[in-house]
Amino acid sequence: MAVDRNPDPDVVEIDLFAYPAMVELDGKSIEMLTYNGHFPGPLIQAKVGDEVVVHFENQTLEPTTIHWHGLRIPAEMDGNPRIQSPVRPGERFTYRFRVPEAGSFWYHPHVRANEQVERGLYGPFVVHDERDPVYDAERVFMVDDILLGADGIAPFLASHPEVMHGRNGNILLVNGEEELVRLEARPGSIERWRLVNTANARTMRVRIGGAASVRVIASDGGLLETPYAVPELVLPVGQRYDLEVRYGTDPVELTQIVRTVDDQGNLRYVDIDVVRASLSGEPRADRSIEWPVRDARAPRDAEREVTLRFDGVNGPNGIEWRINGAAHRREPLFTFRKGETVKLILINEAGPEHPFHLHGQWFERLRFGRLSDTEPGLKDTVLVPGFETVEVLAYFDNPGRWMAHCHILEHAELGMMSEIVVED
Ligand code: C2O
Ligand code: CU
Repeated sequence: MAVDRNPDPDVVEIDLFAYPAMVELDGKSIEMLTYNGHFPGPLIQAKVGDEVVVHFENQTLEPTTIHWHGLRIPAEMDGNPRIQSPVRPGERFTYRFRVPEAGSFWYHPHVRANEQVERGLYGPFVVHDERDPVYDAERVFMVDDILLGADGIAPFLASHPEVMHGRNGNILLVNGEEELVRLEARPGSIERWRLVNTANARTMRVRIGGAASVRVIASDGGLLETPYAVPELVLPVGQRYDLEVRYGTDPVELTQIVRTVDDQGNLRYVDIDVVRASLSGEPRADRSIEWPVRDARAPRDAEREVTLRFDGVNGPNGIEWRINGAAHRREPLFTFRKGETVKLILINEAGPEHPFHLHGQWFERLRFGRLSDTEPGLKDTVLVPGFETVEVLAYFDNPGRWMAHCHILEHAELGMMSEIVVED
């Protein structure tokens, strides 16, 4: 956990240093990149309205930035390397922003992200709200995979599947560990689990076995108005879901997350237990969670409709991933007015999936592929499966220049990167 060195209760002030460190993985000592020597980086916690000050120093050999994924902060603090010139080796930069909303977020670089994130630069960022329901425990699970070769992290963009589908690892990690995560809990406890998929490309599937009840209570944009139960959670890269997990009172009961891993689009699944809870002690008193009643957001209708087409073509240097016919587009894809509500029609014209991520704004999912199902909750990332169309309603409330890209980091680095401008 990052140490807050500011005595003011409304200011969180921390130091972050990026530097190489050796990490034990797969029985080997692997050179990774870390924040403050930790993989994943330290948990940053704040409460709604706090000012966050991060004194960052780059002690790696490459330029980098930090992007605060999901936080609706000013564009100059968002780690966009087109706005903030990347922090060069040996240099410092102070990120300073106010956190406007509660939820489960994360941070990672936005320069050669496919390499820097894979090599270990990411960490969790939780914003609390004093009105949040109170749980017996809160836990963060950062789910990742990593591709190791004979001597450490395998070379980047070196295989056709990696260029096509993004990099799928051969080791699965939760909070940097390949071993089963073991939890201790009292029977009958109710916990909040914050799940973040930090893999470069792999969509994770999460099923919980053995718990008395599990429901989804939050999405990228914080608590839902109405929690819901699902048999299996699809967790694309970049996205977050919070689960409320209630243990039974049977003292020998085990709870586990079962990750069903989809290996590059083919249907061979591998089930892997990643979390096991052993219950001991006196059962907690049966209780129900008081769900906070929030002022309902006023419904907003689309004032405009725009289309984003995702495709890939063979360019002079190999495959280029494009949005609306351009790879690494320099000029803005669209310009909106602050406060504008826009329907984005996301059309995937090829087979590989694209988790589309928009910085600095929220959207809601209206339509997903052939299903006309909306999904409750605010999001900043949505999966657009191969040859499918997904529609979202985006609320462009945060002015500035914002990155809009595929969160499969290889696709982004190979061109699927653009910018949307919101005029004040
Ligand atoms: Cu998680 Cu543009 O980033
Ligand atoms: Cu993509």
